[in-house]
Amino acid sequence: MRVLGIESSCDETAAALVTDRGEVLADVVASQIATHGPYGGIVPELASRAHIRAIIPVIHEALSNIPGGLSSVDAIAVTQGPGLVGSLLVGVQVAKALAWSLEKPLVGINHLDGHLFAVYLQRPGEPEPMSVPTMPYVGLLVSGGHTALYRVEGFSDIALLSQTRDDAAGEAFDKAAKLLGLGYPGGPIIDELAAGGQADAFAFPLPMASRKTLDFSFSGLKTALARHVQQTGVPNDDQALGDLCASFQSVIVESLVRKSVLACRREGIDQLVITGGVAANRGLRARAKLACNENGITLFVPPPISCTDNAAMIAMAGVHRLADGERDDLSFAVYSRDPGRRRGKFRADGTLVDHKSE
Ligand code: KG4
Ligand code: ZN
Repeated sequence: MRVLGIESSCDETAAALVTDRGEVLADVVASQIATHGPYGGIVPELASRAHIRAIIPVIHEALSNIPGGLSSVDAIAVTQGPGLVGSLLVGVQVAKALAWSLEKPLVGINHLDGHLFAVYLQRPGEPEPMSVPTMPYVGLLVSGGHTALYRVEGFSDIALLSQTRDDAAGEAFDKAAKLLGLGYPGGPIIDELAAGGQADAFAFPLPMASRKTLDFSFSGLKTALARHVQQTGVPNDDQALGDLCASFQSVIVESLVRKSVLACRREGIDQLVITGGVAANRGLRARAKLACNENGITLFVPPPISCTDNAAMIAMAGVHRLADGERDDLSFAVYSRDPGRRRGKFRADGTLVDHKSE
Protein backbone atom coordinates (compact mmCIF):
# COMPACT_ATOMS: atom_id res chain seq x y z
CA MET A 1 0.00 0.00 0.00
CA ARG A 2 1.22 3.51 -0.88
CA VAL A 3 -0.18 6.42 1.12
CA LEU A 4 -0.03 10.01 -0.09
CA GLY A 5 0.44 12.27 2.94
CA ILE A 6 -0.56 15.93 2.85
CA GLU A 7 0.39 18.45 5.55
CA SER A 8 -0.55 22.15 5.74
CA SER A 9 -1.23 22.79 9.43
CA CYS A 10 1.25 25.58 10.01
CA ASP A 11 3.94 27.18 7.84
CA GLU A 12 5.04 24.23 5.73
CA THR A 13 3.20 22.88 2.69
CA ALA A 14 4.20 19.25 2.35
CA ALA A 15 3.39 16.09 0.39
CA ALA A 16 4.95 12.64 0.66
CA LEU A 17 4.46 9.08 -0.51
CA VAL A 18 5.08 6.33 2.06
CA THR A 19 4.62 2.54 1.87
CA ASP A 20 2.92 0.45 4.54
CA ARG A 21 6.40 -0.56 5.73
CA GLY A 22 7.25 3.09 6.34
CA GLU A 23 9.58 3.49 3.34
CA VAL A 24 9.63 7.11 2.21
CA LEU A 25 9.35 7.07 -1.61
CA ALA A 26 8.95 10.84 -1.96
CA ASP A 27 8.98 13.75 0.46
CA VAL A 28 8.61 17.42 -0.47
CA VAL A 29 8.39 20.31 2.00
CA ALA A 30 7.86 23.92 0.88
CA SER A 31 8.78 26.25 3.72
CA GLN A 32 7.21 29.66 4.25
CA ILE A 33 10.10 31.04 6.31
CA ALA A 34 10.74 33.78 3.73
CA THR A 35 7.07 34.85 3.95
CA HIS A 36 6.90 35.09 7.75
CA GLY A 37 10.53 35.93 8.56
CA PRO A 38 10.10 39.71 8.33
CA TYR A 39 7.28 39.53 10.95
CA GLY A 40 9.23 37.40 13.44
CA GLY A 41 6.39 34.84 13.58
CA ILE A 42 3.63 33.22 11.54
CA VAL A 43 0.95 35.49 10.05
CA PRO A 44 -2.06 33.13 9.63
CA GLU A 45 -3.65 34.83 6.62
CA LEU A 46 -0.35 34.90 4.75
CA ALA A 47 0.14 31.22 5.63
CA SER A 48 -3.22 30.21 4.11
CA ARG A 49 -2.49 32.11 0.91
CA ALA A 50 0.98 30.60 0.61
CA HIS A 51 -0.51 27.09 1.09
CA ILE A 52 -3.01 27.72 -1.72
CA ARG A 53 -0.20 28.71 -4.07
CA ALA A 54 2.08 25.83 -3.08
CA ILE A 55 -0.14 22.81 -2.53
CA ILE A 56 -0.65 21.58 -6.11
CA PRO A 57 2.99 22.16 -7.21
CA VAL A 58 4.21 20.38 -4.04
CA ILE A 59 2.01 17.32 -4.70
CA HIS A 60 3.11 17.31 -8.35
CA GLU A 61 6.76 17.45 -7.32
CA ALA A 62 6.33 14.64 -4.79
CA LEU A 63 4.88 12.35 -7.43
CA SER A 64 7.08 13.51 -10.31
CA ASN A 65 9.54 10.60 -10.04
CA ILE A 66 6.98 7.97 -9.05
CA PRO A 67 6.01 5.63 -11.92
CA GLY A 68 2.28 5.95 -12.43
CA GLY A 69 2.12 9.24 -10.51
CA LEU A 70 -1.27 9.81 -8.90
CA SER A 71 -2.59 6.45 -10.13
CA SER A 72 0.00 4.67 -7.96
CA VAL A 73 -1.55 6.17 -4.80
CA ASP A 74 -3.65 3.67 -2.82
CA ALA A 75 -4.92 6.01 -0.09
CA ILE A 76 -4.62 9.57 1.18
CA ALA A 77 -3.84 10.83 4.70
CA VAL A 78 -4.15 14.51 5.53
CA THR A 79 -3.53 16.60 8.64
CA GLN A 80 -6.91 17.39 10.19
CA GLY A 81 -5.60 19.39 13.18
CA PRO A 82 -4.40 20.87 15.46
CA GLY A 83 -3.14 23.93 13.59
CA LEU A 84 -4.23 27.12 11.84
CA VAL A 85 -7.76 26.57 10.53
CA GLY A 86 -7.25 28.49 7.26
CA SER A 87 -4.06 26.54 6.58
CA LEU A 88 -5.53 23.15 7.51
CA LEU A 89 -8.50 23.73 5.20
CA VAL A 90 -6.23 24.04 2.16
CA GLY A 91 -4.69 20.59 2.64
CA VAL A 92 -7.96 18.97 3.69
CA GLN A 93 -9.95 20.32 0.73
CA VAL A 94 -7.28 19.21 -1.75
CA ALA A 95 -7.10 15.78 -0.09
CA LYS A 96 -10.88 15.40 -0.24
CA ALA A 97 -10.96 16.41 -3.91
CA LEU A 98 -8.21 13.91 -4.73
CA ALA A 99 -9.83 11.10 -2.74
CA TRP A 100 -13.16 11.74 -4.44
CA SER A 101 -11.80 11.96 -7.97
CA LEU A 102 -9.43 8.99 -7.59
CA GLU A 103 -12.00 6.99 -5.59
CA LYS A 104 -9.38 6.23 -2.92
CA PRO A 105 -9.79 5.96 0.86
CA LEU A 106 -9.08 9.08 2.94
CA VAL A 107 -8.14 9.49 6.60
CA GLY A 108 -7.78 12.69 8.63
CA ILE A 109 -4.71 12.62 10.89
CA ASN A 110 -3.94 14.33 14.18
CA HIS A 111 -0.68 16.21 13.52
CA LEU A 112 0.64 15.13 16.93
CA ASP A 113 0.17 11.45 16.00
CA GLY A 114 2.23 12.21 12.91
CA HIS A 115 5.09 13.52 15.05
CA LEU A 116 4.88 10.56 17.46
CA PHE A 117 4.96 7.98 14.65
CA ALA A 118 7.67 9.70 12.56
CA VAL A 119 10.04 7.34 14.36
CA TYR A 120 8.78 4.49 12.14
CA LEU A 121 9.79 6.17 8.88
CA GLN A 122 12.53 4.50 6.85
CA ARG A 123 14.26 7.04 4.63
CA PRO A 124 16.41 6.13 1.62
CA GLY A 125 20.12 6.68 1.99
CA GLU A 126 20.30 5.69 5.66
CA PRO A 127 23.32 3.39 6.19
CA GLU A 128 21.07 0.76 7.78
CA PRO A 129 17.36 0.42 8.63
CA MET A 130 16.40 2.73 11.49
CA SER A 131 15.80 0.79 14.68
CA VAL A 132 12.30 1.38 15.95
CA PRO A 133 10.73 1.16 19.41
CA THR A 134 8.28 -1.48 20.50
CA MET A 135 5.17 -0.35 22.36
CA PRO A 136 4.70 0.87 25.00
CA TYR A 137 7.16 3.75 24.85
CA VAL A 138 7.33 7.22 26.36
CA GLY A 139 7.10 9.93 23.70
CA LEU A 140 8.39 13.46 24.26
CA LEU A 141 6.78 15.70 21.65
CA VAL A 142 8.53 19.07 21.42
CA SER A 143 7.45 21.45 18.69
CA GLY A 144 6.55 25.08 18.14
CA GLY A 145 3.01 24.61 19.43
CA HIS A 146 3.26 21.63 21.80
CA THR A 147 5.46 20.24 24.54
CA ALA A 148 4.10 17.08 26.09
CA LEU A 149 4.95 13.60 27.35
CA TYR A 150 2.86 10.61 26.28
CA ARG A 151 2.64 6.94 27.08
CA VAL A 152 2.24 5.38 23.63
CA GLU A 153 0.57 2.02 24.07
CA GLY A 154 -0.73 1.54 20.53
CA PHE A 155 -1.31 3.48 17.32
CA SER A 156 -4.66 4.67 18.60
CA ASP A 157 -3.94 4.24 22.29
CA ILE A 158 -2.00 7.26 23.49
CA ALA A 159 -2.19 8.63 27.03
CA LEU A 160 -1.11 12.16 27.87
CA LEU A 161 1.23 12.15 30.88
CA SER A 162 2.02 15.86 31.11
CA GLN A 163 2.37 19.01 29.06
CA THR A 164 3.55 22.56 29.27
CA ARG A 165 1.59 24.90 31.50
CA ASP A 166 2.35 27.88 29.24
CA ASP A 167 4.75 28.21 26.30
CA ALA A 168 5.93 25.29 24.17
CA ALA A 169 9.70 24.72 24.01
CA GLY A 170 9.84 25.73 20.33
CA GLU A 171 7.87 28.86 21.16
CA ALA A 172 10.46 29.70 23.86
CA PHE A 173 13.26 29.36 21.26
CA ASP A 174 11.34 31.51 18.77
CA LYS A 175 10.51 34.23 21.30
CA ALA A 176 14.10 34.31 22.59
CA ALA A 177 15.45 34.69 19.06
CA LYS A 178 13.01 37.52 18.41
CA LEU A 179 14.09 39.23 21.63
CA LEU A 180 17.73 38.93 20.60
CA GLY A 181 16.96 40.16 17.09
CA LEU A 182 18.17 36.90 15.54
CA GLY A 183 15.34 36.10 13.10
CA TYR A 184 12.72 33.37 12.62
CA PRO A 185 12.39 30.47 13.33
CA GLY A 186 14.56 30.85 16.40
CA GLY A 187 15.30 27.20 17.23
CA PRO A 188 17.79 26.44 14.45
CA ILE A 189 19.50 29.85 14.88
CA ILE A 190 19.94 29.47 18.65
CA ASP A 191 21.05 25.84 18.13
CA GLU A 192 23.79 27.08 15.78
CA LEU A 193 24.94 29.93 18.03
CA ALA A 194 24.80 27.74 21.16
CA ALA A 195 27.27 25.30 19.58
CA GLY A 196 30.00 27.95 19.96
CA GLY A 197 29.05 29.07 23.48
CA GLN A 198 29.51 28.10 27.13
CA ALA A 199 26.33 26.70 28.67
CA ASP A 200 27.37 27.71 32.20
CA ALA A 201 28.07 31.36 31.33
CA PHE A 202 24.69 32.57 32.61
CA ALA A 203 22.61 30.91 35.32
CA PHE A 204 18.96 30.80 34.25
CA PRO A 205 16.55 29.11 36.68
CA LEU A 206 15.53 25.53 35.84
CA PRO A 207 11.73 25.55 35.38
CA MET A 208 9.51 23.04 37.24
CA ALA A 209 12.55 21.65 39.03
CA SER A 210 10.45 19.61 41.48
CA ARG A 211 10.48 15.88 40.86
CA LYS A 212 6.84 15.80 41.94
CA THR A 213 5.57 16.95 38.56
CA LEU A 214 6.14 15.94 34.95
CA ASP A 215 4.75 19.28 33.72
CA PHE A 216 6.83 21.81 31.80
CA SER A 217 6.85 25.62 31.90
CA PHE A 218 8.94 27.92 29.72
CA SER A 219 7.41 31.37 30.04
CA GLY A 220 9.41 32.22 33.20
CA LEU A 221 12.62 31.44 31.34
CA LYS A 222 11.60 33.77 28.54
CA THR A 223 10.95 36.51 31.14
CA ALA A 224 14.34 35.86 32.76
CA LEU A 225 16.02 36.28 29.37
CA ALA A 226 14.02 39.47 28.69
CA ARG A 227 15.09 40.89 32.07
CA HIS A 228 18.71 39.98 31.38
CA VAL A 229 18.59 41.71 27.98
CA GLN A 230 16.89 44.75 29.53
CA GLN A 231 19.71 45.07 32.07
CA THR A 232 22.73 44.33 29.90
CA GLY A 233 21.51 44.72 26.31
CA VAL A 234 21.89 42.20 23.49
CA PRO A 235 25.52 40.99 23.49
CA ASN A 236 27.43 42.67 20.71
CA ASP A 237 30.23 40.16 20.34
CA ASP A 238 29.86 36.64 18.96
CA GLN A 239 31.29 34.86 22.00
CA ALA A 240 28.95 36.55 24.48
CA LEU A 241 25.96 35.91 22.18
CA GLY A 242 26.95 32.26 21.85
CA ASP A 243 27.29 32.00 25.63
CA LEU A 244 23.85 33.51 26.18
CA CYS A 245 22.25 31.18 23.60
CA ALA A 246 24.05 28.13 25.02
CA SER A 247 22.95 28.99 28.57
CA PHE A 248 19.34 29.58 27.53
CA GLN A 249 19.21 26.40 25.41
CA SER A 250 20.79 24.24 28.11
CA VAL A 251 18.02 25.08 30.60
CA ILE A 252 15.31 24.07 28.10
CA VAL A 253 17.21 20.90 27.25
CA GLU A 254 17.79 20.02 30.92
CA SER A 255 14.11 20.45 31.73
CA LEU A 256 13.00 18.31 28.76
CA VAL A 257 15.49 15.55 29.49
CA ARG A 258 14.88 15.38 33.26
CA LYS A 259 11.11 15.13 32.87
CA SER A 260 11.44 12.51 30.13
CA VAL A 261 13.69 10.31 32.28
CA LEU A 262 11.33 10.79 35.22
CA ALA A 263 8.37 9.79 33.04
CA CYS A 264 10.16 6.60 31.94
CA ARG A 265 10.89 5.73 35.60
CA ARG A 266 7.34 6.39 36.75
CA GLU A 267 5.81 4.43 33.87
CA GLY A 268 8.31 1.58 34.21
CA ILE A 269 9.24 1.98 30.53
CA ASP A 270 12.78 1.84 29.18
CA GLN A 271 12.22 3.30 25.70
CA LEU A 272 12.05 7.02 24.96
CA VAL A 273 11.12 8.63 21.63
CA ILE A 274 11.86 12.34 21.16
CA THR A 275 10.16 14.00 18.23
CA GLY A 276 8.82 17.33 16.87
CA GLY A 277 10.76 20.30 15.49
CA VAL A 278 12.79 20.91 18.67
CA ALA A 279 14.04 17.30 18.53
CA ALA A 280 16.27 18.53 15.71
CA ASN A 281 18.23 20.47 18.37
CA ARG A 282 21.78 19.14 18.64
CA GLY A 283 22.09 20.04 22.32
CA LEU A 284 18.90 18.12 23.14
CA ARG A 285 19.94 15.09 21.09
CA ALA A 286 23.36 14.91 22.78
CA ARG A 287 22.09 15.48 26.34
CA ALA A 288 19.23 12.99 25.92
CA LYS A 289 21.63 10.33 24.65
CA LEU A 290 23.85 10.79 27.68
CA ALA A 291 20.97 10.75 30.18
CA CYS A 292 19.39 7.68 28.56
CA ASN A 293 22.70 5.80 28.65
CA GLU A 294 23.06 6.62 32.35
CA ASN A 295 19.52 5.46 33.10
CA GLY A 296 19.33 2.29 31.01
CA ILE A 297 16.81 3.82 28.59
CA THR A 298 16.94 3.15 24.85
CA LEU A 299 16.56 6.45 22.99
CA PHE A 300 14.96 6.85 19.56
CA VAL A 301 15.20 10.21 17.82
CA PRO A 302 14.22 10.43 14.15
CA PRO A 303 16.61 12.27 11.81
CA PRO A 304 16.00 16.05 11.86
CA ILE A 305 14.14 15.94 8.51
CA SER A 306 11.53 13.64 10.13
CA CYS A 307 11.34 15.77 13.32
CA THR A 308 10.34 19.09 11.74
CA ASP A 309 6.97 19.32 9.99
CA ASN A 310 6.69 16.99 7.00
CA ALA A 311 4.02 14.95 5.24
CA ALA A 312 5.81 11.58 5.45
CA MET A 313 4.92 11.39 9.15
CA ILE A 314 1.26 12.12 8.30
CA ALA A 315 1.28 9.30 5.72
CA MET A 316 2.91 7.01 8.33
CA ALA A 317 0.18 7.72 10.89
CA GLY A 318 -2.32 7.16 8.05
CA VAL A 319 -0.88 3.72 7.28
CA HIS A 320 -1.86 2.53 10.74
CA ARG A 321 -5.37 3.98 10.70
CA LEU A 322 -5.97 2.53 7.24
CA ALA A 323 -4.56 -0.85 8.28
CA ASP A 324 -7.10 -0.86 11.12
CA GLY A 325 -9.79 -0.49 8.46
CA GLU A 326 -10.56 3.10 9.38
CA ARG A 327 -11.87 5.46 6.70
CA ASP A 328 -13.20 9.03 6.91
CA ASP A 329 -15.98 10.33 4.70
CA LEU A 330 -15.73 13.61 2.82
CA SER A 331 -17.59 15.61 5.46
CA PHE A 332 -15.00 15.75 8.24
CA ALA A 333 -14.03 19.12 9.69
CA VAL A 334 -10.64 20.48 10.73
CA TYR A 335 -9.84 21.34 14.37
CA SER A 336 -7.52 24.08 15.64
CA ARG A 337 -6.82 22.58 19.08
CA ASP A 338 -5.81 19.08 20.06
CA PRO A 339 -9.05 17.36 21.09
CA GLY A 340 -7.26 15.70 24.03
CA ARG A 341 -4.98 12.74 24.18
CA ARG A 342 -6.71 10.21 26.33
CA ARG A 343 -6.72 6.49 25.94
CA GLY A 344 -8.97 5.28 23.19
CA LYS A 345 -9.86 5.84 19.61
CA PHE A 346 -10.84 9.16 18.11
CA ARG A 347 -13.63 9.83 15.65
CA ALA A 348 -12.90 11.84 12.50
CA ASP A 349 -14.12 15.01 14.24
CA GLY A 350 -11.56 14.46 17.00
CA THR A 351 -13.99 13.37 19.72
CA LEU A 352 -13.17 10.29 21.74
CA VAL A 353 -14.91 6.98 21.11
CA ASP A 354 -15.76 5.60 24.54
CA HIS A 355 -14.97 1.88 24.52
CA LYS A 356 -17.52 1.23 27.24
CA SER A 357 -20.50 2.93 25.59
CA GLU A 358 -19.88 1.84 21.98
O1 KG4 B 1 7.32 20.44 14.57
P1 KG4 B 1 7.56 21.77 13.97
O2 KG4 B 1 8.30 21.83 12.64
O3 KG4 B 1 6.23 22.56 13.79
C1 KG4 B 1 5.21 22.52 14.76
O4 KG4 B 1 4.41 21.56 14.73
O5 KG4 B 1 5.24 23.43 15.62
O6 KG4 B 1 8.36 22.64 15.05
C2 KG4 B 1 8.74 23.95 14.81
C3 KG4 B 1 9.51 24.43 16.01
C4 KG4 B 1 9.88 25.92 15.92
O7 KG4 B 1 9.56 26.52 17.15
C5 KG4 B 1 11.38 25.88 15.70
O8 KG4 B 1 12.06 27.01 16.24
C6 KG4 B 1 11.77 24.60 16.42
O9 KG4 B 1 10.72 23.71 16.13
N1 KG4 B 1 13.04 24.05 15.94
C7 KG4 B 1 14.13 23.94 16.70
C8 KG4 B 1 15.16 23.44 15.87
N2 KG4 B 1 14.64 23.23 14.63
C9 KG4 B 1 13.33 23.61 14.68
N3 KG4 B 1 14.33 24.23 18.01
C10 KG4 B 1 15.56 24.03 18.50
N4 KG4 B 1 16.60 23.58 17.77
C11 KG4 B 1 16.44 23.25 16.46
N5 KG4 B 1 17.48 22.80 15.75
ZN1 ZN C 1 4.57 19.90 13.96
